[in-house]
This record gives sequence, structure tokens and C-alpha cells, in this order.
Amino acid sequence: MINPFDFPGVGVISFGVDRIEKMADDLADLEEKGTAVVVISDAGVTRAGILDRVRRILKESGRDVAVFADLEGEPRGESVDEAATIVRRCENPCVVGLGGGSALDVAKLAAVIAGDDRPAEDYALCAHPLPKPVLKRIMIPTTAGTGSEVTRNSIFINREGRKVWAWGQELLPDRVILDPRLTTSLPAHLTAASGLDALVHAIEACTSQQRNPLSDTLALHAIRLGKQHLLTAIEKPGDLTARSGMLLASTLAGLAFGTTGTAAAHSIGHALATIAGIPHGRAVAIALDAILGWNAEASPEAFSAVAEALGAHKRAEDAAPAFRALIQQTGIDRSLAGEEIDPETLATLMLAEENRPMLDNNARKITATDALELARRTVSL
Ligand SMILES: [Fe+2]
Repeated sequence: MINPFDFPGVGVISFGVDRIEKMADDLADLEEKGTAVVVISDAGVTRAGILDRVRRILKESGRDVAVFADLEGEPRGESVDEAATIVRRCENPCVVGLGGGSALDVAKLAAVIAGDDRPAEDYALCAHPLPKPVLKRIMIPTTAGTGSEVTRNSIFINREGRKVWAWGQELLPDRVILDPRLTTSLPAHLTAASGLDALVHAIEACTSQQRNPLSDTLALHAIRLGKQHLLTAIEKPGDLTARSGMLLASTLAGLAFGTTGTAAAHSIGHALATIAGIPHGRAVAIALDAILGWNAEASPEAFSAVAEALGAHKRAEDAAPAFRALIQQTGIDRSLAGEEIDPETLATLMLAEENRPMLDNNARKITATDALELARRTVSL
């Protein structure tokens, strides 16, 4: 039986090398009133000169520009609140998210919660419904990995240091600009980690409990693109064909898991971030490496398609070694041995409220006993 599904509508997605130069046209199309723009970005984008370029494009089009670009690393709820304060100070601004997944997550949530006066934390884990969006939003990724530009969630760290999420149709932007040139300054290790995150999204989407024919189609092509282009993007950062392939892989994977959700590798990955601060892309790649073979036993048809998309024989048991080989080729350190993570603590957190939905969406049902076994496998790679 095909799972029932909702495929969330995203506004216009525009792709092209140097497409960013036309963003004033996008703003003109969206504007109903006002000419202010709030750009929410991050330190890496500032260092790469991309923020200055966007500021120039916006100024030349006669717009007032306010910038929040203090983000570095994983965002905290307070960062979302600071960004929302800047948004509230402007009159009917368009909110532009420009950066990696963290910047886009902050931009998506700040633009929406600016319509009310609650802090971001009040919306964590759907504790309160999100306000209906009144501001126009454009998301412009500068990394290829999270797919945040097309997903309905925003992830941030709460006051207790736990990685939590806000979720809702309200978080989808009006426009997405995919400009592969913006990703060419991303260092090799971040290209590798974010690219693997995209692959994990795709693999989890097309094997999860909530998979459906639309998400399968998108996810399997994302895996093919990732297999084809990730290593070149790492080795030749200026290769626009490889960068285009990865950026599209990331967005396709985002569209896929935006409807299916992610699964156990993300439950483990979020728990690893909370316990030991392991960066997201590396954490989910290690987690999927640890559990892929175990998962494949339960769903041969889905995982044989994954194996084939990864360039291996169309056999479920070939998916795990193909994914492991790709991780090794990227140069990402697969071992958590030096981190001294207690598997029981990890398993407890995998089953916690914020990570449980991902665990329950996994290809293979996971009991508490299984969670401990998978935690052991993850920390002992
Ligand atoms: Fe992810």
C-alpha cells in the first residue's frame, strides 16, 4: 500500500549560476508594501564576501537593508529571538535567509515569530502553534546539505542545551534561490560533512516509514547526484558542475524528507550533538554508517534501490558498504572512539521526546533494547 502523504508546497525555486544577481526582481515580484529587507546570515558567509555582494545588489535596487549576521555554529533560541527583534524593528520587511542550514533555520523561524511576541523556545516541539506568516521570505543556501530552504522545520538549541525543533507549514518560504557559485567558497571538510548530511536525508527519506512515491523519486535522484558529484566538489571547489549537482541533491533531498521526515540516523545525530557537540553532518553520517546494514535487513526492496543509486549492485546488503566507502573517500573521520560517549546515555537521549519521532520513523522498528545496541554500534565504530 502507498502511504497517504501531504507534499508541502514551496514557492518558486530558481536555479542558476549567478542567479543571485536577479534577486531584486524576486523582491519586486513579492513586494506588496515597503522596501526594507532584513538579511539573516552567518559569519562564514560574511568572511566569504557573499554578504557584501548581496548587500550591494539590494542597495543598488534602492532598498533599506538591515543585517543580522552574528551566527556561528549551531543556532540557539536566543539567536532566533535577536533576529526576530531586528525584523520587528523594520516596517514590513522581506526576510532573506542567506547561508548554511543554521542561518536559514534562524531566518525561517525569526520571520514567522516576529509576528508575535513569544520567544522561539515557546514554539519548540510544537508546544504552541506558529503565527501565520505575514512577511515575504526568500531563502538562499550557501551550503549544499541541510535542504532547509525547502523544509518545514527549524532546529535550534534550547536553554538546557538540547537540540530541539519548531515545525509547521508556516516555515516554508515564498522563494528559493539556488546559486551554485555561492557554495564554491565552502571549505573541503564542510563540503564533505554537509554533502553527507544531504545523502543521509535522501537515504532516510526513501526508506522511512512515511516514504511515498514522490519522496522516493526525489530522494533516489538526490542519492545519484550525491554519489556523482560529492567527491569532485570536495577536491575541486570551483567546479560548478559538481557544485550544481550537490546543491540540487541537497534541495531534492530536502523536498523528500520535508514530506517523510528523517529517521534513526538523525535521532542519533541530534543526541550526539547534545551529548558531545558532534557537528551535524559528521554525526548523522557516522550514525547511518552504524545502522544501515541492520536497517537493510528489514526492508530489502527500499535498500536495494539505495544501493543501486549509490552505484552498487541492486542488492540491499550492498547499500551499507557503498555508503561506508563514500564516507571514507570524503575524508570524514568515522570514529567516535576518542569521544568517550556512554552508549546508555546516548540511547536514553535517542528515546527522548525531541528525538523519538525520528526514531519511530525508521525503516526498522526500534525497541529500547535495539536503541542501546545501535548506540553501542555508533560509538564503537
Ligand atoms: Fe540532517
